[in-house]
Amino acid sequence: MDKAQQDALKKAAGIEAAKLVEDGMIAGLGTGSTVRFLVDELGRRVQEEGLKFTGVTTSRRTQEQAESYGIKIVDVDDVDHIDVTIDGADEVDKNFNGIKGGGAALLWEKIVAINSNKIVWIVDESKVVDTIGKFPLPVEVIPFGAGHVVKKFEAKGYKPVLRLDADGKEVRTDENNFIVDLHLERIDHPQDLAEDLINTVGVVEHGLFLNMVDTVIVGDPNGPRVMTNGNK
Ligand code: A5P
Repeated sequence: MDKAQQDALKKAAGIEAAKLVEDGMIAGLGTGSTVRFLVDELGRRVQEEGLKFTGVTTSRRTQEQAESYGIKIVDVDDVDHIDVTIDGADEVDKNFNGIKGGGAALLWEKIVAINSNKIVWIVDESKVVDTIGKFPLPVEVIPFGAGHVVKKFEAKGYKPVLRLDADGKEVRTDENNFIVDLHLERIDHPQDLAEDLINTVGVVEHGLFLNMVDTVIVGDPNGPRVMTNGNK
């Protein structure tokens, strides 16, 4: 699949998911290239159809894009609930276990997700996998002592790589932390790994989102298809 085809599938999933946002709702808005299509469509509905909703964003990038359309964005602490959060993902398996954080926004994404009544992911079909882990697992770590965290991960065989930007500088998250990507190739025991990561001092959060999502909208060449999680 080339990039243009993949973008078309992402866009179709984004447009489909935008239908879930109704007047008066509080909607969580994720981060990434697929969510950009979602926000474009929500912006169109706000401007052309008079849709009125309040957004809670998972990154400054998404906030800027949403506000450019006149979408009202508030802080996550200024709402008592979130009706639905729509976000992208890097991988998802049939048990609805996923990896997120390719765009370095996993911490805010997880905070918004766990405070949402419903979680929807929008992905192109290449993200649906049998076993997660081919996509490097992002882990957000505090800069102080990050080198020691990396060494501990190395000793465990997690194959960590500190994420750098195009200028060779450490990538910083919206919370000013670093991202370490674990090149695991496959994750057979995601719960055990999640527990080990979150118990490592210096780790703020990891990109394993296990059985959190309710619905996955998959951009498919035959039209968007919906995977519903019956085990949540
Ligand atoms: C952001 O940190 C991520 O969790 C994204 O949601 C994820 O990487 C999907 O991004 P794309 O839609 O750009 O593939």
